[in-house]
Amino acid sequence: MLEVRDVSKIFFPHTPNERVALDNVSLRMAERDFVTVIGSNGAGKSTLLNVVAGAYRPESGRVFVDDRDVTKEPDFKVARYVGRVFQDPMAGTCPNGTVEQNLSMAFSRGKRRGLRQSLTRAKREIFRKELRALDLGLEDRLSVDVGLLSGGQRQALSLLMATFSKPRILLLDEHTAALDPARAEHVTQLTETAVDRYGLTTLMVTHNMAQALRLGNRLIMMHAGRIVFELEGDAKKNATVQDLLDEFAKLKVVTDRTLFSAAEVPRQPTPAEPTDEWPQRPSSTSTVSDPDHQLRDP
Ligand SMILES: Nc1ncnc2c1ncn2[C@@H]1O[C@H](COP(=O)(O)OP(=O)(O)O)[C@@H](O)[C@H]1O
Ligand SMILES: [Mg+2]
Repeated sequence: MLEVRDVSKIFFPHTPNERVALDNVSLRMAERDFVTVIGSNGAGKSTLLNVVAGAYRPESGRVFVDDRDVTKEPDFKVARYVGRVFQDPMAGTCPNGTVEQNLSMAFSRGKRRGLRQSLTRAKREIFRKELRALDLGLEDRLSVDVGLLSGGQRQALSLLMATFSKPRILLLDEHTAALDPARAEHVTQLTETAVDRYGLTTLMVTHNMAQALRLGNRLIMMHAGRIVFELEGDAKKNATVQDLLDEFAKLKVVTDRTLFSAAEVPRQPTPAEPTDEWPQRPSSTSTVSDPDHQLRDP
């Protein structure tokens, strides 16, 4: 169970560069909920995940994992029950360690000391079996440095490391966005398998709206630090990419109106206003050239 309660995160508060990245966000996820998160650049998606992971401390509000208040816990402690995979294939693994050393580190998360250190034969067998299931030939490369692996292999390894200790919460931040379509699809399938297998409670940011609809049982759309639209259950199953584009378009209309009325009262725009960051409805040509329906900002 994850609860984000009235969380605000402000960068550079009380300065001319003040940025409200999260504006009183609340989100409650039941056990095994799989929530996909979409929104334009700068909407606050990564900040939300970073607050949950303990990487950022919010200015106000609380974060609970299974009724445990983790708001003030540092990320290395939260990492015992929250697994993460980032967009950057370099970020989730240690390049100078071997595949085996990386896995061993992840394996020891949340386990007692004795178990942590040694690389026993039994552990190695477990690693081989898990790696074989990734279908990337990594089971024969246990002693290879992770830095020598491809992006797809590293993301699959990061995913394995983030999931096989059965975290209470799994956070995925555009973890397939840097991969080519075939590898992205492979890592997406591995993600679904891991989530099902361990019954994980998952929060996944994606730029790909078709993917946001296809995966998970809930979807949230973020904009300007807020959750502005939600779908779940049958409503999510029946929704189309066009429905999501229509929701984005509504945001733009509201914003244009807000800006228009605000223009009648002369004032200084603040840096917190993401005026140039609204998602645009793609033209028909960009829809054709973009079969995955990636939401790209202008
Ligand atoms: N570490 C940071 N320092 C300063 N500003 C940040 C930082 N991280 C994010 N921001 C700002 O907070 C807002 C939300 O960013 P982010 O959560 O990364 O958006 P998203 O992941 O939806 O693209 C943006 O305006 C961004 O510039
Ligand atoms: Mg982000």
